[in-house]
Amino acid sequence: MASFRNKSMVLCLWLATSFGLVYESVLAELQRFEHPTKGDGTLSFLVVGDWGRQGDYNQSAVARQMGIVGEKLDVDFLVSTGDNFYDDGLTGEHDPAFVDSFVNIYKARSLQKQWYSVLGNHDYRGDVEAQLSPSLRKIDSRWICLRSFIVNAEIAELFFVDTTPFVKEYFFEPKNHEYDWRGVTPPKTYTRNVLKDLQSALRESTAKWKIVVGHHAIRSVGHHGDTKELVERLLPILRANNVDFYVNGHDHCLEHISDDKSPIQFLTSGAGSKAWRGDLKEMKGDGLKYFYDGQGFMSVKLTQTHLEIAFYDVLGTVVHKWTMSKQLHSSI
Ligand SMILES: *[C@@H]1O[C@H](CO)[C@@H](O)[C@H](O)[C@H]1NC(C)=O
Repeated sequence: MASFRNKSMVLCLWLATSFGLVYESVLAELQRFEHPTKGDGTLSFLVVGDWGRQGDYNQSAVARQMGIVGEKLDVDFLVSTGDNFYDDGLTGEHDPAFVDSFVNIYKARSLQKQWYSVLGNHDYRGDVEAQLSPSLRKIDSRWICLRSFIVNAEIAELFFVDTTPFVKEYFFEPKNHEYDWRGVTPPKTYTRNVLKDLQSALRESTAKWKIVVGHHAIRSVGHHGDTKELVERLLPILRANNVDFYVNGHDHCLEHISDDKSPIQFLTSGAGSKAWRGDLKEMKGDGLKYFYDGQGFMSVKLTQTHLEIAFYDVLGTVVHKWTMSKQLHSSI
């Protein structure tokens, strides 16, 4: 399981007494988790998004297949791309949805690993502080959900980004939804700091593989399409820092798009429960490699030199596979 490295807190206390001024910038450093891998130089994990529906809409069927694939790959951990609890996040730390949609659904032995989760826009419609609360780990120790953070898994470093506050529509045209914006206002300052922290963490990273995780898509041909704010503000940072892939949820589908200006792959794994929206936007450019609007999930297998991504449907069938070799920068 992961260990906290609360370097920033210790540093802060020391710096606060020495130089009051730098306190704030050090405090902003992203929280890091060290996740030692199996020791054979490989890493594997599953990615699922948009799932918490008490098992309905095939959530349980997807979970079952995740258990089987997780066993086969001997996964190190799991990643959730957000929209963890429908429709409106958690109502509090004791919301039974945590048990009904997470604890009692992902029960397979292979899934009893650390889960690293970001928040989706639906999670922001509930009590965000409750979903982020460490007290949920007393109910199920697998649960780690933070806004933005880093998981260092030796050969790979994963950078989790809180994307909801980037999307202007939620602030300016919230329709009949209420969002819990505690701690993220004003969004302009908040998102600027997130990007600043991400940029310096990416620059300092010496990991072989750099993976960025968020809830909203940068590129998508699904229902919501591209997230304009992320294309404008996040993508340039990923391109400048040799990120290998960006993985998200939000659109309830499995999809793979290649960037036209860099080796970055855009992967959507947002098919953890309700799916089948049936709308496919017209693609600008020709990077679309795969699109499936039914339920499923994704696996990632890494060695020092090879990457293998696979998408699975609700029956556990591999519906799309993509491999890449680091030295050659080629795709098969
Ligand atoms: C569950 O999955 C099956 C197989 O893909 C599909 O036919 C069915 O429509 C799905 N059910 C729901 C509620 O999405």
